[in-house]
Amino acid sequence: MKTKGALLRENNTPWVIEEIEIGDPKAHEVKIRMEAAGMCHSDHHLVTGGIPMAGFPILGGHEGAGVIEQVGEGVTDFEVGDHVVLSFIPSCGKCPSCKSGLANLCDFGAMLLQGEAVSDNTFRIHTAAGENVYPMTLLGTFAPYMVVHEASVVKIDKDIPFEVAALCGCGVPTGYGSSVRSGDVRPGEDVAIVGVGGVGTAALQGAVISGARNVFAIDPVPWKREQALKFGATAAFASVEEAAMKIAEVTYGHMCHKVIVTVGEVHGKDVDTWMGITAKAGTCVLTGMGNMLDSEVTLNLAMLTLLQKNLQGSIFGGANPKLDIPLLLSMYRAGKLNIEDMITRQYRLEQINEGYQDMLDGRNIRGVIRYTEEDW
Ligand SMILES: NC(=O)c1ccc[n+]([C@@H]2O[C@H](COP(=O)([O-])OP(=O)(O)OC[C@H]3O[C@@H](n4cnc5c(N)ncnc54)[C@H](O)[C@@H]3O)[C@@H](O)[C@H]2O)c1
Ligand SMILES: [Zn+2]
Ligand SMILES: [Zn+2]
Repeated sequence: MKTKGALLRENNTPWVIEEIEIGDPKAHEVKIRMEAAGMCHSDHHLVTGGIPMAGFPILGGHEGAGVIEQVGEGVTDFEVGDHVVLSFIPSCGKCPSCKSGLANLCDFGAMLLQGEAVSDNTFRIHTAAGENVYPMTLLGTFAPYMVVHEASVVKIDKDIPFEVAALCGCGVPTGYGSSVRSGDVRPGEDVAIVGVGGVGTAALQGAVISGARNVFAIDPVPWKREQALKFGATAAFASVEEAAMKIAEVTYGHMCHKVIVTVGEVHGKDVDTWMGITAKAGTCVLTGMGNMLDSEVTLNLAMLTLLQKNLQGSIFGGANPKLDIPLLLSMYRAGKLNIEDMITRQYRLEQINEGYQDMLDGRNIRGVIRYTEEDW
């Protein structure tokens, strides 16, 4: 079918809305009419080249929710009309990672930046001129229709608003999980969240829900710090340097049991600064991303060894998409997780560049693209 999508034709250029052609669902694939797509910072890494896809043009978007419109051969878990979240992490349920309970490390993940559908290694999306289109993380939620593998799809209850559900494809489980799963925050612990955007605000809520004693929010944008205090942070600071003295005072020099790093652009030179506010035997969870080719890190090895600290990477917050997405949405429904207030503004697909500028200017916790009849 013919539809449209936000494409990136080369690095450091704006998103352009172009006509695209999406193929029918093949075996184990479903076609989805999109309702909402979240604007995560990771798609901006496609623009800068920090996350390199295998080719151009790229169809952006890896956070979204919609309605199943067609199912391919062999699909038994979904039927037409089901409401679903698109998870940027596929989970096949069959590979060693999935079977050992590490679904966020599913073997399909190796294909996330390849552009080809995992079902048969062919391209499902093409431009009007017939070029192959590379969808972000096997999805491409910046289009009103998608054809994706069932491993990337999670069924949800029909009463959940789509814009709330969309955030559970990446930002909410990644942030919440970074605190609760990868960080294993325990009651009474002191936690710092470095960078309180979309992912960081979910991490902040995860730390609060886990019973953290102090939750220090660190972000250079004053409005973000104000929001963080509303979401339960006990103090907010403009930089790690500014926070360090205060954290030392409040924790009697112990510093933070857990430090969750969710800044928009991670640089290796900053790692030692984050480890500096991490307590003895504490854990610094690195969730934010920078350039994927960056391998230079500044880290005091003696402090790492002698103070027995942990530096922990985290993809999708260590969460299990098929288990945690419905769980987080049930927590939202129970009033335990505030996803609604994380959505600062909704946009039309055509406003995507404005939306990303708002993110870069620090005006949004999360911007969401909302699709309507005009798009379908
Ligand atoms: N590991 C994963 O699975 C995963 C998943 C999603 C997103 N990410 C990454 O997480 C990061 C955050 O994503 P997001 O969508 O929340 O981005 P965002 O732009 O909404 O939030 C980033 C926040 O960091 C703040 N910030 C920037 N520099 C800072 C600094 N030096 N110190 C403290 N705060 C700083 C910004 O003001 C902003 O509030 C991105 O790098 C993104 O690519 C990783
Ligand atoms: Zn994301
Ligand atoms: Zn798997």
